[in-house]
Amino acid sequence: MSAESRVIRADRAKEILVLEKTVNIKIAASILSADFGRLAEQVAEAEAAGADYIHVDVMDGCFVPNITIGPLVVEAVRRATRLPLDVHLMIEAPERYLARFCEAGASLLTVHVETCPHLHRTVQQIEELGCKAGVTLNPATSLSTLEEILPFVDQILVMTVNPGFGGQAFIESMLPKVRRLRAMLDGAGARAEIEVDGGIDAETAPRVVAAGAQVLVSGSAIFGAADGIQQAITRIRKAI
Ligand code: DX5
Ligand code: ZN
Repeated sequence: MSAESRVIRADRAKEILVLEKTVNIKIAASILSADFGRLAEQVAEAEAAGADYIHVDVMDGCFVPNITIGPLVVEAVRRATRLPLDVHLMIEAPERYLARFCEAGASLLTVHVETCPHLHRTVQQIEELGCKAGVTLNPATSLSTLEEILPFVDQILVMTVNPGFGGQAFIESMLPKVRRLRAMLDGAGARAEIEVDGGIDAETAPRVVAAGAQVLVSGSAIFGAADGIQQAITRIRKAI
């Protein structure tokens, strides 16, 4: 084989690798920005538009300054879709409610490291209940808090806004944090996927993917889109 065709082959291989990575990127539609009066309909629309997960934000008015939904709404969403439910617990002492959310139909439960002094036990409890386990950290929380838990979790969520509300601006300094987490996971050979949450739209999506994120949570850019859910998801998908 000539040197020239070897270069072409190597370029093709790189292209295929990039393509495979992009195809495997998942979109998690966050119902926080949905119309709750038409929740089942909006969830079904997101599924038909190609969302991979439905992301459910649970807030208690203590850990974050907002109150949202509980297990009853998760049950209703479970009935409205076949997609996995990615349940983000922004609540103090989440271990009190793990069983309730699993029974309600959660596929993956994510807890904040800031709320879990016994994080290893909490992650074990989630797995014993038959759910996938995710851990997440606020923008100001260091990646070093994840070091010991890395091998035990399915997903790590990097908050790219301060949790509590939809529609906030993406925090730029979270991009190098995602890159550092990518390197940490690759270095440790850990299986966990990197998810990002907050300010994700067609502009920020390709940038977080380039930094190493694999699951993109998006709320207002999907459910608040003037041209509808279908167009919004297609726009994010095309951008990555
Ligand atoms: C914020 C929530 C997010 C929220 C993101 O605390 O965790 O899931 O829905 O909303 P957008 O995509 O509008 O920033
Ligand atoms: Zn969330």
